[in-house]
Amino acid sequence: MPGDFKVTPWEVSGEVDYDRLVRDFGTSPIDDEILERFRQYTGDLHFMLRRKIFFSHRDLGWILDRYAAGENFFLYTGRGPSGHTHLGHLIPWMFTKHLQEKFGADLYFQMTDDEKFFHDPVLSQVETLGFSYENALDVIALGFDPAKTFIFSDIEYIKTLYKIAIEVAKHVTYSTAKAVFGFDNSINIGMIFFPALQAAPSFLPSVLKKKNIPCLIPAAIDQDNYWRGIARDVAPKLGFYKPAQIHSKFMPGLGKGGKMSASQPETAIFTTDDPEVAEKKIRNSFTGGRDTIAEQKKFGANPDICPIYHYYEFMLEQDDKKLKTIYEDCKGGRLMCGDDKMHLISKLKPFLKEHQRKREEARKMIDKFMVKD
Ligand code: TYM
Repeated sequence: MPGDFKVTPWEVSGEVDYDRLVRDFGTSPIDDEILERFRQYTGDLHFMLRRKIFFSHRDLGWILDRYAAGENFFLYTGRGPSGHTHLGHLIPWMFTKHLQEKFGADLYFQMTDDEKFFHDPVLSQVETLGFSYENALDVIALGFDPAKTFIFSDIEYIKTLYKIAIEVAKHVTYSTAKAVFGFDNSINIGMIFFPALQAAPSFLPSVLKKKNIPCLIPAAIDQDNYWRGIARDVAPKLGFYKPAQIHSKFMPGLGKGGKMSASQPETAIFTTDDPEVAEKKIRNSFTGGRDTIAEQKKFGANPDICPIYHYYEFMLEQDDKKLKTIYEDCKGGRLMCGDDKMHLISKLKPFLKEHQRKREEARKMIDKFMVKD
């Protein structure tokens, strides 16, 4: 049915109506007022804010109030390591890096290898833990500060996390977990407990430093169930601040509609893809183009539904003027999809090569970032 869509931590489908999510999830839109406040601390706004790729938040004003009053916040985000990182995952992480730089914030980065072990019918513990380390290379490659960044695997850091997770779990009934996550009777009991583990890092630095520290979580909006339904509800019961959030939209996959998702590898570009393979994927991508060049010249194409356009918007063209030109030339029938794809490829391949170089460099630094107990 048109207008039907689903956004959960494990499934995003249909055409997402982001305004409706703001209403349904009870968040606040990123508006000019909050952007103006942001600008006071960061100078020029990050392109993901200017373009409303980060479009929604909870308590961001409060985080800035605390910051203005001299109380630093920490950042918390993560990854479910079920395979290699794709470009979509980099969106919240690049923005998190910007926040770390501008606010001098510590980052706690959770690798939920336990979640992916529970969730995936075939992945072994050894495999998901292995992907925690592989995905950590992508995080490190983005240039996070080793002195301020703590990456941990749930499997390896469980002694510390468990003490917090059981405090959380005690306040969450099975009926709440079912209502928040839509669990049915076929779910394994690991998944039922798991939300307590994803909530736990919202309070981790407060526990480690024995004082209440504000938390800001940058992530795409698919992770919101954890904060809306669990972490924010339990926080005051445990004497902690409620974690604040800033939510991004989804970078689309290469097919018609839908987010970039590791579960559809043929329509995702992985950071580990050989640049030639990535080029082939782009060449085969769906676009917002017309059936024939003549029609496209006459009627123009539709950038709004085109993954190629959105890859510029989300990542590969940070100059607003150039982005606007691409948009208008596409709509006006002056830009043909073949040329547009070649131009994107000419930006994507160097990006991938450079990321892969930094990713290899990161192998030498990984011990500086990973925390264990
Ligand atoms: P995961 O591995 O599904 O996703 C990692 C991060 O990437 C975001 N994301 C996307 N962002 C933009 N476009 C896309 N196409 C796209 N696909 C995924 C997700 O929102 C997420 O921010 N359980 C979590 C791991 C986790 C976590 C966290 C995430 C643990 N603690 C705290 C965010 C914040 C997971 O499986 O994420």
